Amino acid sequence: MDFEEIVSNRRAVNFFNPDKPIDPSLVKKMVEMASKTPSSFNLQPWNLIVLTEKEDKLRLQKCAMNQEKVSAAPVTMIVLADNEGFFEGHKTVEQVFQENIKAGTMTEKQRDWFQTARSRLYGKNEKTIQAFSCKNAGFFAMALMFAAKSLGIDSHPMDGFDHGKVMAKFNIPDNFYIPLLIAFGYFDETKSLPAPKWRKGYDDIVVRF
Ligand SMILES: Cc1cc2nc3c(=O)[nH]c(=O)nc-3n(C[C@H](O)[C@H](O)[C@H](O)COP(=O)(O)O)c2cc1C
Repeated sequence: MDFEEIVSNRRAVNFFNPDKPIDPSLVKKMVEMASKTPSSFNLQPWNLIVLTEKEDKLRLQKCAMNQEKVSAAPVTMIVLADNEGFFEGHKTVEQVFQENIKAGTMTEKQRDWFQTARSRLYGKNEKTIQAFSCKNAGFFAMALMFAAKSLGIDSHPMDGFDHGKVMAKFNIPDNFYIPLLIAFGYFDETKSLPAPKWRKGYDDIVVRF
């Protein structure tokens, strides 16, 4: 499948084949493919909780407006956006800094500059913090769905869930925000897929003020 086919054929699939699990090696591969997603300063403020056990998925379904696909899909993921992913002392931030030094793109003397740049851009208020984590995690989530499609795996993104309940039921630390859940699996061929949905065209998308 070339990229245009992947983009055109990806659909939010409501019904997953309950008898067709996803090979764990493919789950790993799609996550690794999505890890190539760009992020601000390469900070990668995303994590995933990967649920494959029926019991866990049912627990999530109860927090997600009882949407059946949450537990019918063989793999359902909770996408996490790390609101602290630009903080000084954060493990990934430190690794990014050290990797930049190793690659020769930064020097140890630039530590203060790097920290000031991050906190000026993202640390102003709650809105800038949330924007930082969610825009990057959103790109990652989209890449995951395209990577899945390229491997023949269907998906369904969802924000129909109770954020507080999912945080509590899965013991998610407060530094995270959940931008969306994604169900992954194979479309149940006994069901019919609705026709592709309307999209805004070029002239609707491009604006000037
Ligand atoms: C962030 C996000 C949240 C969504 N939440 C839900 C949801 O909770 N339940 C649902 O049935 N569909 C949900 N959808 C699926 C959209 O309705 C669907 O992607 C859209 O109608 C376009 O259809 P298509 O993906 O098949 O082209 C969500 C999609 C996105 C991107």
